[in-house]
Amino acid sequence: MKRLFKGGRVVDPANGRDGLFDVLIDGDRIVRVAKDIPPDGAHVVDVPAGFVVVPGLFDMHVHLREPGQEHKETVATGTASAVVGGFTAVACMPNTTPINDNAGVTEYILQKAAQAGLARVYPIGAVSKGSNGDQLADIAELRAAGCVGVSDDGRPVKTALLMRRALEYTAMFNMPVLEHCEDPSLKGEGVAHEGYHASTLGLRGIPGVAESIMAQRDIALAELTGGAVHICHMSAMESLRAVREGKGHGARVTCEVAPHHFTMTDEALASPVSYDTNVKMNPPLRAAADRDEMLKGIADGSVDCIATDHAPHHYDEKKVEFDVAPFGIVGLETCVPICFDRLVHPGLITLSRLIELLSVNPSRILNVASGALSDGAVADITILVPDLQVTVDPARFKSKSRNTPFGGWQLKGGVAATIVGGRTVYMNDAAAGAGRFK
Ligand code: DOR
Repeated sequence: MKRLFKGGRVVDPANGRDGLFDVLIDGDRIVRVAKDIPPDGAHVVDVPAGFVVVPGLFDMHVHLREPGQEHKETVATGTASAVVGGFTAVACMPNTTPINDNAGVTEYILQKAAQAGLARVYPIGAVSKGSNGDQLADIAELRAAGCVGVSDDGRPVKTALLMRRALEYTAMFNMPVLEHCEDPSLKGEGVAHEGYHASTLGLRGIPGVAESIMAQRDIALAELTGGAVHICHMSAMESLRAVREGKGHGARVTCEVAPHHFTMTDEALASPVSYDTNVKMNPPLRAAADRDEMLKGIADGSVDCIATDHAPHHYDEKKVEFDVAPFGIVGLETCVPICFDRLVHPGLITLSRLIELLSVNPSRILNVASGALSDGAVADITILVPDLQVTVDPARFKSKSRNTPFGGWQLKGGVAATIVGGRTVYMNDAAAGAGRFK
């Protein structure tokens, strides 16, 4: 069936577009993006004034927890959460049970994703068997099964030698190594950013350099090998300095920042309530200077992507002492409102730059053919409403978990519809009017 989206602002940085265009799709493909396309029998969808049509958003760092931790999330609930958040695609980390270090697990995840039929799922395989850091996983097998990158996320790649070999190996397949940067000896038993607030609350600290030392190691190895390293959930200003320097040398290094790291600081450990385990994540919320540096990097282009590190945990697991609670927060359903409210509306970045961060660059880094509204491309499309008033209500999340520090936040900007392969898989009736994007 042909559908013609008429009258919306189209922001498509990969094709240099930002203006009023029509988008004609046929089945699962985009036929044409142009001004004043005649309907010619296509079903016309009127895009209300103020709504924005963009290439499908891609969250390149999520935890879907299946197989093995289905009490936290499943591929079905995680992808339901993704499409509500405007994401047509996610890349899921391998720290499932068992670890995604072989084709069997990769295929299982892909099968679950196909059954759910919501967002596209691109698995990330493990760098090492069991993510133990001792022996490389069979990366060729993972690649052949559908993995688009490798990572031991949740932990760093254990040794410099293993990282070197992983970079050499993945370079042959044009895949990146996605790195959780953390020096285990400096992190120790830390649970929060090393600073005033952790000290006054009696929490063991993790300094920013625990992250940046590992980032420096990996960037040096990317330079040595010609492999591509992607720095996950960057939080410390020293890490961004290392990324900028590496890019200056021509190293193949990219990086992502999560919404919590550019909005919140370690002050949240103490207020509005202290010891809230929903502000415990790894890496931790850092000092204001770090937060501000992340914002600067997002604005000046040195940060490549925004990714949520969506890390669902069950209520019972989080409802314990701060020290023993698991690290991580959910993020898929709050990302777009936060990005509009904190980045676009204050004028820090343009909407076009936001789409680079949330769609174009993740696609490029993982070598996935998405992130552009090109003629003939697969019709993965997100429709945004910059002026929508959103109050974050965790009780209404589609995710199985509700561990968020953003509950009750009032934000401006949201999602009207998410279209995957030409199918409307999510529609926000309150924003768009019932059935509008059918
Ligand atoms: O906070 C985090 N949670 N950081 C990680 O690196 C892993 C993640 C998880 O899997 O829960």
